[in-house]
Amino acid sequence: MIILGINAYHADSSAAIFVNGIMVAAIEEERFKRVKHWAGFPSLAIQFCLKEAGVTIEQVDHIAIGRDPKATLFKKFLFLLKHFSGSFEVVKDRILNSKKVASLEEEFHVLTGVDKEQIKQKIHQVEQHRSHLASAFFASPFDEAALLSIDGSGDFTTTMIGVGKGNSINVTDSVDFPHSIGVFYTAFTQLLGFPHYGDEYKVMGLAPYGEPKYVDKLKKVVQLTGDGLFKLDLSYFRSATKGVISYGEDHIPVVAPLFSDKLSREFGEPRKKEEPLSQYHKDLGASVQRLTEIVIFHILNHLQKRTGLLNICIAGGVAQNSVANGKISRNTTFRNIYIPSAGHDAGISMGAALYVQHQVVNAPRTPPIMTAYTGSRFNNEEIEQLLISRKIRYNKIADGVLYANVANRLVNGGVVGWFSGRAEFGPRALGGRSILADPRRSDAKDLLNAKIKRRESFRPFAPSILKEYVDEYFEVNDVVPFMEKVFPIRPEKQASIPAVTHVDGTGRLQSVDKDISPRYYSLIEAFRKKTGIPILLNTSFNENEPIVNSPLDALDCFLRTDMDMLVMENIVVERH
Ligand SMILES: [Fe+2]
Repeated sequence: MIILGINAYHADSSAAIFVNGIMVAAIEEERFKRVKHWAGFPSLAIQFCLKEAGVTIEQVDHIAIGRDPKATLFKKFLFLLKHFSGSFEVVKDRILNSKKVASLEEEFHVLTGVDKEQIKQKIHQVEQHRSHLASAFFASPFDEAALLSIDGSGDFTTTMIGVGKGNSINVTDSVDFPHSIGVFYTAFTQLLGFPHYGDEYKVMGLAPYGEPKYVDKLKKVVQLTGDGLFKLDLSYFRSATKGVISYGEDHIPVVAPLFSDKLSREFGEPRKKEEPLSQYHKDLGASVQRLTEIVIFHILNHLQKRTGLLNICIAGGVAQNSVANGKISRNTTFRNIYIPSAGHDAGISMGAALYVQHQVVNAPRTPPIMTAYTGSRFNNEEIEQLLISRKIRYNKIADGVLYANVANRLVNGGVVGWFSGRAEFGPRALGGRSILADPRRSDAKDLLNAKIKRRESFRPFAPSILKEYVDEYFEVNDVVPFMEKVFPIRPEKQASIPAVTHVDGTGRLQSVDKDISPRYYSLIEAFRKKTGIPILLNTSFNENEPIVNSPLDALDCFLRTDMDMLVMENIVVERH
């Protein structure tokens, strides 16, 4: 059985394909289009998935799209009635969007030439939050688990909870737009001077520089409810009848200003682009982060009591909050957590496909998805051809020697572009498309920012650590395959890895497994042999663009920046 899942006409559009229960490919369209969060029809991602699976669209049994306008028509109707006096932009936008979904078969027809009617028969629409839940539960190692999907808004819902058992999901409750913890976080992200889609992680990085002094004040904005959910005081937000996210002709998501005059009256004027971040901004960021954590733990503790389960699966944009994720085991009664590598909206393609596979078709569960390496891949020959055509000198070095050479370069202060195996599905580079540096260097952050990233100085860089050493360096011992959690670093270890220790003594770790990432593991092991430290600084291979996908993207990034060494499979290009 072959199932193709897509996230289309929505931020981080993507495709994923399952062949007999195994996900053989999944990738974001932005990686091909080279436009961050690209939000149109994922035609290149679909073509890539079909090619990886070795099939044509005729051979695909089911096409799952992770949104269902019909699922929420009634909610929209009620919403419309309630806000009758306001404008109808939000509903109009969404109805227009439904029309786009309705013409999916047209898009597939243009892409593949296959008859529209034949395509239409294969299409399943899966509500966005059900797709999120499926992306977490059906990919998890758990036979039974409590489930949470939480984001800005999708199909008019912002939060959904339920229980997964075997090959089915049972939704037990939800919170509808405009009550949204994602909208809350984004509104304050905008107020703090970060206006772009996906900027929330900047507030998360800023928060540890402040004190959560304003949590009580913020509790007026978000209120916990007795049923284990929450609601917003809508007077703090711009009229909910106006759209939240829009997509222009260029398919780039744009977020409308979400806060009301009342919010800026009470919490300060929006910070302007060039205005420095004051201690007030940092304290407000810390408070927004803390309140978000309080809301998440409130939902989870209720869910745990209600279900009695110890396993929890989480997805949705808010599930990208790795700081909150890292605190779940210490602040709730859940013991085991699974969050997919693409917990955000790109994961909708994978989730919609999994939903059809198990919930609709009733297929039995398959092995858990513990790898994010489902994207593009290239071999040495393809890489050599590119370099020859560009007249760029390179060396071809066998694996064993290569690891030692790269480790040497890192020890000597080098910044290395590491392009190995398949690209990662999801927003984190995990040793497939990474830029690496020595975590022991106190100047590594400045070095990276000067040479490549030029990003805000308050943002931390992350550690990749050999799985066997997590306990030695971190206060929480857990498997973190997708950099989805932040843990405290043991105080006595912090000074030895300053480049990956955030100001509050934490690190957003990736635990590197020998079986899942053999080459990356070997490289870190080579570094450990030289330095005694089983850790590398890992940041995504890009410079203000989507993570590099092809050798050409990687080469361009290398040439544009001051990176010292570019390693693509066994091919090495160096700056001397
Ligand atoms: Fe979502």
